[in-house]
Amino acid sequence: MSGQDELQELVGAAIGEIEAAEDIRALDEVRVKYLGKKGLVSAQMKELGKLDPEQRRERGRVLNEARQQLEKAIASRRAALEKRALEEKLAKERVDVTLPARPERAGVVHPVSHVWEEVVEIFADLGFSVAEGPHIETDWYNFEALNIPPEHPARQEHDTFYFHEKEDGARKLLRTHTSPVQIHTMETQQPPIRIIAPGRVFRCDSDPTHTPVFHQVEALVIDRDTHMGHLKWTLEEFCKAFFETENVKMRFRASHFPFTEPSMEVDINCSWEGGQVKVGEGDDWLEILGSGMVHPNVLRAGGIDPDEWQGYAFGIGIDRLAMLKYGIPDLRAFFDADIRWLKHYGFSALQIPTLAGGLSA
Ligand code: PHE
Repeated sequence: MSGQDELQELVGAAIGEIEAAEDIRALDEVRVKYLGKKGLVSAQMKELGKLDPEQRRERGRVLNEARQQLEKAIASRRAALEKRALEEKLAKERVDVTLPARPERAGVVHPVSHVWEEVVEIFADLGFSVAEGPHIETDWYNFEALNIPPEHPARQEHDTFYFHEKEDGARKLLRTHTSPVQIHTMETQQPPIRIIAPGRVFRCDSDPTHTPVFHQVEALVIDRDTHMGHLKWTLEEFCKAFFETENVKMRFRASHFPFTEPSMEVDINCSWEGGQVKVGEGDDWLEILGSGMVHPNVLRAGGIDPDEWQGYAFGIGIDRLAMLKYGIPDLRAFFDADIRWLKHYGFSALQIPTLAGGLSA
């Protein structure tokens, strides 16, 4: 057999193996086998030295051609394999974006979030804007500026979560109410002021109507002649709008808060029969808010002259509102993240509360 025939056979075998390679790795093995440093074609190249010049030139040309032929075959097989791998990947990862969402995966809006939105919607309509403050507070904002000095007995009622003491004796704390936002707002805005501040608050307490974390919405209105009549009217309008009825029974009770004078608390009439809360029935009452006329010391702490300005403030329990409106008996379940509970009491993400379209509809 001539060298020529042998070479052709070798190239034929190589092409067959290249075509049969099913992935890039197999293809690479074929390449090494024939074209690698110790490959079969390379071995023939090494033989060239033994030939005389005339033969060597001719043999070299033929070998080079064979080599190029194999390189081309490998390159085109590689391209085909890569294309196939990409197609397989795309087919496997294909997403049909036109498919509807799986109903069992659809999330729901927590009743607290929903009620929060309802409350914001109502007060926005009354001309209030939304303010914010930090969860981690200093003693000054949570107590002192609100007319609660260090030894004041009201501090004990707050069951405060404290952080470790700093070297200078100062201790940060988790805010026990949204009232510190009153002070932050007075520091950053000039009166007239009309804000609400919904947010999370923290107290070391737990029973069916108390949890260590809960939500309040603070309101602060300051103007030259704001009085108790404005406060009472606003609360009545709020309750009617929120409970979506004219006949909510509210009870205004004289009370005491260091940061308001005079102060009153508001209870809503409800019944707890059969493990359900119902508004406007029975003869039980659930306290939903504390309120009053802002104490002059608080205005002063916020840098506002009490001889020129006066106003009212209140703090409503958002979770309490949710319990009453949606008949949810145990507050602790709000924070259990139990999917079955959420499905039962949650709201569709498309149910955005608006006054025009209905709050809870
Ligand atoms: N901060 C009070 C509380 O948490 C509520 C309140 C706010 C009372 C504003 C009066 C005025 O109980």
